[in-house]
Amino acid sequence: MEERLFERVQLLWCRFQEVYISTAENISSEVKSALMLLNSLNKSTSFNSNNCNLNKSRDIEFIHQLIAQTTIEKQYKELMDYFADIIKSRPSSKKASLGQVTTPFPIIKEIIAECKSIKSTQKIPETLKWLDVGCGPGFFISWIMIQELIQESIKNSGKTEKISANLHDIEYWHSLKARLGAIDIDSLSIHMAKRFASMILLLLIRHEGWHLSHEIIEILPPIQFFAHDFLDEKSPIDGFKPTIIVGNPPYIFSRNLTPKYRMELKNSCYSSAQGQFDISDVFIERSIQLLPPNGVLGLIIPEILLSLSSRRNIRRILINSSNYIFIREVQETFQTANVENIELFIRKSHQQSDPMLKIEKTNIQGETQVIFEGNKIKPQEIEQEIEHNDRLLDLLHIKNESKYSEIVEFVERKFYSINEWNELHPQQPIFVFRGVELSKKGVIIQCTNCGLWMPFSRKILKCKHCHRPISQSIIPTKIIHERLDFTNQNRKKNSANSVQKFVQNFPHEKKKLQTDSYIDLEYKGIQYKPLERYHQLRIVVRQLLHEKKICAAEIEPDTMTSQSIYNICFPSVFKDEVPSLVKNLRSDLTADYLFVTFSKGKRLFPRILLNILKEIPFIPKNFKHI
Ligand SMILES: C[S@@+](CC[C@H](N)C(=O)[O-])C[C@H]1O[C@@H](n2cnc3c(N)ncnc32)[C@H](O)[C@@H]1O
Repeated sequence: MEERLFERVQLLWCRFQEVYISTAENISSEVKSALMLLNSLNKSTSFNSNNCNLNKSRDIEFIHQLIAQTTIEKQYKELMDYFADIIKSRPSSKKASLGQVTTPFPIIKEIIAECKSIKSTQKIPETLKWLDVGCGPGFFISWIMIQELIQESIKNSGKTEKISANLHDIEYWHSLKARLGAIDIDSLSIHMAKRFASMILLLLIRHEGWHLSHEIIEILPPIQFFAHDFLDEKSPIDGFKPTIIVGNPPYIFSRNLTPKYRMELKNSCYSSAQGQFDISDVFIERSIQLLPPNGVLGLIIPEILLSLSSRRNIRRILINSSNYIFIREVQETFQTANVENIELFIRKSHQQSDPMLKIEKTNIQGETQVIFEGNKIKPQEIEQEIEHNDRLLDLLHIKNESKYSEIVEFVERKFYSINEWNELHPQQPIFVFRGVELSKKGVIIQCTNCGLWMPFSRKILKCKHCHRPISQSIIPTKIIHERLDFTNQNRKKNSANSVQKFVQNFPHEKKKLQTDSYIDLEYKGIQYKPLERYHQLRIVVRQLLHEKKICAAEIEPDTMTSQSIYNICFPSVFKDEVPSLVKNLRSDLTADYLFVTFSKGKRLFPRILLNILKEIPFIPKNFKHI
């Protein structure tokens, strides 16, 4: 699988060069042969000759279309989409182990622009040296490269020469390369990033009508790539000495790291890698270590960094090492990860001091507002802030948790969480899974190319299975039936094997669920999840802290659920315990515990919910059946 993806990128790159050369007007034979030579040198993967024509016409058409785009920004976005699709097609387990999600273009632009603006307030201007951490296909660093080049070219605007003299000078290109760096642990990402940067650069050169010399081609792309673990204390990145670090670090909870890697981090110099942590915390700490005083860090990061008690270590590091912290709520959401994000910017301080803190939010009308700005905060002001923004408290570590500490201490003393149970009883694990992957209304469509089915959404333009375009005129089908007419024996789908009881939603007050909805089972491509899981002893959870309660219920055996519902599967030792476990989950005590330790009154989103659910203590420690 991975090899095929290497090959797909390489094939695109080779085809790009062919089209580029064949459609160029003024390209010297020297440049042509340099490009061809580069092509052959870059064949880091040996082609399977059977695959040489794979997707050829589609790729060629895509490249022509790309070249024909009117602005570099449009070209960038199109090429990004192509590369992001390759990343998406990797197995989910691989993506999860790397924390791999691609960042939307508007966020990349915003982060880069903000970092520049923070740097520009400095009294003594300095040459910027950028590092993209966890670069993936290099979407951050390539946009920085484009911006640097455009900025260089317009230095001469108004003069007769179209471009800055520097762009003719190979020394400029070498100095650019010395100032741009990117690191990723994943070799496919680095392979992709090199090709992405080269293609977009060649497009820019053509778009701007700049002179392309064979010397430029020889250093292509003008970025230093490091295929290495960023957190390795002996990584070559130490010698790079960046002044601005940007990126979207991987987001992996410590428990989901391999035990060996988790142990290595715990034994390292990083103080953020203690207790429960997230790998993104360690990325932040490592970045701060690398930056010089007044160096700037700009990252996109899940918002829970500001509130989870387990992330206190990294908040402390941020406050102690910065003279400026800027937090901006992100409006654009990721397609693949349901998580609220913030853009986090800091400027590193020379010594420990009270950082200037700025928090920006977007109100219901979509207007951006600075909701807090200052460094000397008086206790009364903080009290007022609590009403609006509880997280601020924790950020400045002035939180008074005493009145809740008893609840926390009691619940943790009396009950196990799922995670704790599983560590103690690996032979009788409890596991959590989400139900059938369906959109809200349960409507599906069939791809006319591969014949597989998928949830219908007006936003989906490509088949999620074969990635070919989906015609918007396909008529959607209903997969869920409110009241199924079992008397109609002629309909195949009414036979007992092809339908199953189904719960899509349930009211908050329901403790025991019965259903009269049914789901058809016959649609290939729909992720029903293995049917045997639904035979198991289960509790379902729809929401945490809705109306200050956990919305949990018992469910009839064999009833399937939609993906918005979490299914907690218990081993058979819990046979008689389900009603009391539901009661525990729905209790005020558990809700208070959850409120204090995790949510602090904010909405919780599914990706976070799964981790949180596994951390809630609700299984009595005095349970005797083992
Ligand atoms: C959230 S993705 C971001 C990708 C890309 N920067 C973007 O914004 O589209 C995180 C990236 O971090 C990389 N990564 C994970 N662990 C790493 C480590 N220890 N050192 C360096 N890179 C790592 C993954 O391979 C992945 O490409």
